[in-house]
Amino acid sequence: MILKTRITQLFGIRHPIIQGGMHFVGFAEMAAAVSNAGGLGIITGLTQRTPERLETEIARCKEMTDKPFGVNLTFLPALSPPDYPGLIEVIVKNGVKVVETAGNNPQEYMPTLKQAGIKVIHKCTAVRHALKAESIGCDAVSVDGFECGGHPGEDDIPNMILLPRAAEELKIPFVASGGMADGRSLVAALALGADGINMGTRFIATQEAPVHQHVKDALVATSELDTRLIMRPLRNTERVLANAAVDRLLAKERELGAKLQFADIAEEVAGVYPRIMQNGEMDAGAWSCGMVAGLIRDIPTCKELIDRIMAQAEVLITQRLRGLLA
Ligand SMILES: Cc1cc2nc3c(=O)[nH]c(=O)nc-3n(C[C@H](O)[C@H](O)[C@H](O)COP(=O)(O)O)c2cc1C
Repeated sequence: MILKTRITQLFGIRHPIIQGGMHFVGFAEMAAAVSNAGGLGIITGLTQRTPERLETEIARCKEMTDKPFGVNLTFLPALSPPDYPGLIEVIVKNGVKVVETAGNNPQEYMPTLKQAGIKVIHKCTAVRHALKAESIGCDAVSVDGFECGGHPGEDDIPNMILLPRAAEELKIPFVASGGMADGRSLVAALALGADGINMGTRFIATQEAPVHQHVKDALVATSELDTRLIMRPLRNTERVLANAAVDRLLAKERELGAKLQFADIAEEVAGVYPRIMQNGEMDAGAWSCGMVAGLIRDIPTCKELIDRIMAQAEVLITQRLRGLLA
């Protein structure tokens, strides 16, 4: 089944399914596999750290796909911020068509991105942030509900409320992000007003995801009860998979209360991604994971996953929903 939505038209993709930027997951292999399967794959800019390395990664992705793909730029407060202007320069120079921004809004960089004809989709967790993104000229937003893996913000609004609220307020198209796994998610997202879905966690449990097998197996083994929220006291909440490091971190949060500083938990969060994603050391630290882990039972190829989502959505729309009409 082919669905034509404002998102498929905006990005020139076959299916309204995006793979969100993921630290130490969103390498060229991941992005190319999703784009080749008809979705929109996204390389995670900050995993590459420098403009030179990002340029190499973009070139690798182009060797693996001739379909559109994007680059994620996450704007986080940092003592020594990454070279954002340099990263954007290589994105523009190498003809990348889509940028997914996240964290702070990309206002400062919008003129450069728009001038280059790049479509910008901003990921945010609140309607007010989505409206801000619309007002600064973003082409679309990715609305990340409380269920999501990674940073759900501090408002704690699940997608059942957040998506229809976004639909009430926004003029630009948006995709539903957080908790999306299958055809049911896609049809529900469309019903709530979205023009597609963005998936993070579900794409990690695929054949092509360039992460250690232990990570994929962990996603199949865990349930919807196994995520935890960390760094709430720092107002930098992150949804992660429970493990020994997360237990230790949460014990420190309870013990130190309002006195907690980032330095107190650095051991559990700083620089742990390569050890987890590449070495498969599952207790090395905290890593982002959505509640949707409870819906992950296998490790298909990206094409199998996307085809299955579309086939399931078709049955839901044409049989189940249609069949309910009296
Ligand atoms: C392991 C992992 C790493 C992530 N890293 C980033 C990141 O670097 N930048 C970003 O904008 N979002 C990041 N995200 C969030 C995803 O792009 C996406 O918004 C989120 O996973 C959607 O929720 P879901 O996991 O329920 O599908 C990450 C998510 C996961 C699971």
